[in-house]
Amino acid sequence: MSLAPLLKAVSTHGFAADLHQALAHSPRCIAPKYFYDEQGSALFEQICELPEYYPTRTELALLRQHAAEMAEMIGPQAQLIEYGAGALNKVRLLLDRLLPQAFVPIDISGPHLLQACAALQTDYPNLAIQPVVGDFTQAVAMPAPPTLGSGRRVGFFPGSSIGNFTPAEAESFLAMTAVQLRGGGLLIGVDLIKDPDLLHAAYNDSQGITARFNLNLLERARREIGAQFAADGFRHSAFYNAPLRRIEMHLLSMRRQVLRLQGVDYVFEAGETLHTENSYKYSVAGFQALAERAGFRAGPVWTDAQNWFSLHWLQAPTS
Ligand code: AVI
Repeated sequence: MSLAPLLKAVSTHGFAADLHQALAHSPRCIAPKYFYDEQGSALFEQICELPEYYPTRTELALLRQHAAEMAEMIGPQAQLIEYGAGALNKVRLLLDRLLPQAFVPIDISGPHLLQACAALQTDYPNLAIQPVVGDFTQAVAMPAPPTLGSGRRVGFFPGSSIGNFTPAEAESFLAMTAVQLRGGGLLIGVDLIKDPDLLHAAYNDSQGITARFNLNLLERARREIGAQFAADGFRHSAFYNAPLRRIEMHLLSMRRQVLRLQGVDYVFEAGETLHTENSYKYSVAGFQALAERAGFRAGPVWTDAQNWFSLHWLQAPTS
């Protein structure tokens, strides 16, 4: 597994520039991709184990139960591309049923991805793994044939990370993948609209792990780009915005204070927030309509008995 040519470091410069831009605007809002440094990725893995955070275990159960049907949709000898790959736990359930020609996990957190790939390679020694460190929301350069092979491309995008885009962004991302996966398809996990109390609990866990995950964004700014602010100046805030069908996460300023970033002072009033994440929830039909607008043809959908989570097979256009 040769990684060096594929490594594409996500620069600290990009984080600093985007944070300055976020802080200079009103309302203040930054992309959730900046959660995922090494600490943030490790905290996210802890979130996935939390009793309140139902998406991971529900999706895993769906994958376990329906892996054979999903593997049949993917087909043999595909180039399997996982967007926002993380710990690479879920794909194992598919890999137990099929041997793709190549597996291309894309993730922004380099060390984390490479560690996960090494573990995967140990357990699946015959699998050709081609990791790409990069921002999967952009058109990252894919390893070109012959490295990758010539099988049809199939995307795997579990975890409902699609919910972290606005619906308009989700549609453009899907339109980009429809082109990238032409002739193949996409297996995608989508969290469903449900009782707001369940949603609230999932993003306000009793152990405070989600709070640490959220606050890590500012701690990362302190570590990487020397941001200065009071340690107790901000708190985690997460709530369900029912009209927009999304969980919103914010960092809430506890008092009037100054956050200094690279010599620039940004004043936060008490109660003012830095909006760090949206997590949109969909109905099955609503998501299928969005995918079809992006150029896919909606195929089989797998949901749990409580209708909490869904996995969709989307057929990419053939030409
Ligand atoms: C990665 N993403 C789908 C998670 C979500 O549920 O939106 C991130 C997360 N944020 C807080 N908890 C989990």
